[in-house]
Amino acid sequence: MFASRFRLLQSSGGGTIDGTDAAQREAWLRAVYRNDSLLTDFDADDVPTSSCSAPSVVAIMLEALQVAEGQTVLEIGTGTGWNAALLAKRLRSDAITSVDINPTHVAQARERLTLLGLTPTLAVADGYLCYEQRAPYDRLIATASAREIPPAWLGQLRPGGVILIDIRGSFAGNLARLTVTADQSAHGRFLPESVSFMPLRSPEQPCRSFSELGGLTGRVAGARGESRTTNLDPGIFRQPAFAFFAQLTLSGALNAPVAFEDGPSFFCVIHPDSQAWARVELGTGTDYPVTQGGERRLWDELEAAHALWQRLDQPSPEDFTITIGINGQQVVSLAQADRTWHLPL
Ligand SMILES: C[S@@+](CC[C@H](N)C(=O)[O-])C[C@H]1O[C@@H](n2cnc3c(N)ncnc32)[C@H](O)[C@@H]1O
Repeated sequence: MFASRFRLLQSSGGGTIDGTDAAQREAWLRAVYRNDSLLTDFDADDVPTSSCSAPSVVAIMLEALQVAEGQTVLEIGTGTGWNAALLAKRLRSDAITSVDINPTHVAQARERLTLLGLTPTLAVADGYLCYEQRAPYDRLIATASAREIPPAWLGQLRPGGVILIDIRGSFAGNLARLTVTADQSAHGRFLPESVSFMPLRSPEQPCRSFSELGGLTGRVAGARGESRTTNLDPGIFRQPAFAFFAQLTLSGALNAPVAFEDGPSFFCVIHPDSQAWARVELGTGTDYPVTQGGERRLWDELEAAHALWQRLDQPSPEDFTITIGINGQQVVSLAQADRTWHLPL
């Protein structure tokens, strides 16, 4: 009902399935009962812009939200409307507001919810700016990620209100839960459960387009810079706890593999704002050639981050707390080590 037609994730085959076609009905049933996200919309670069989240992710988020009778909830990212339907069933339709920046998503979700007899308030709005018309809220759940808590959110929650969002940079992040206080500061932590949402698209939080990123990584793969070798295997980024720590340390950085047909493969790290870059050539034993350029030495910084992460006993996202001060600064702390970092990721 919420996703009659979708594309599967690459890890599940990547094909498109149309449940309204009788011949595809069985494949559709198998797909919707898998614990996978279903991609339902794409931009001009074919990058997914909406999905029906995996059932386990929806369950993790709704549990962490801890709603109670009498509370009001704002969802940012209506998407298919499935999560809004679950919230409206759990509380009441009039307790739920859900906004999406894409008018088509809102219109389709409204049709589906109406068929189910559910009437939450759905609106087309940029959730980065919250949705003042129905504020204040007791709970704010974002089903798209942001690099920091959008500042407008704090003033639109009641004291004691909870914000739940995947705080995510371009290569790592984690689900965070914060409680807002009367002076519009907030305190919370990253949760042990990991989710990975697509970014909120907002003029307030511009995302680099896929084609722009492709151009950047292509340039880095051929650029001249300072060369040496490193024994830090880029495969370390597959460890979510280190990837999270690296993103915290290298705020604003992104990474990408680049492979040339019949040629070398590189792991690239780029910090677009400072134009700094590093590339590590893969498949050359345990001493990898690394070349760096720009204002910063990103690989040096990553090696230092890795050494620190090990010295700190390899902390995981749930070891970090977040505080938003009345001055609006968003600080991530690792209490056991008396260390702090700043958002955005
Ligand atoms: C992962 S989908 C949401 C899934 C949804 N909760 C469901 O139950 O199907 C993310 C949604 O966030 C929306 N979105 C992206 N940027 C937004 C923004 N700035 N404000 C509101 N919605 C946004 C997208 O259009 C997309 O529909």
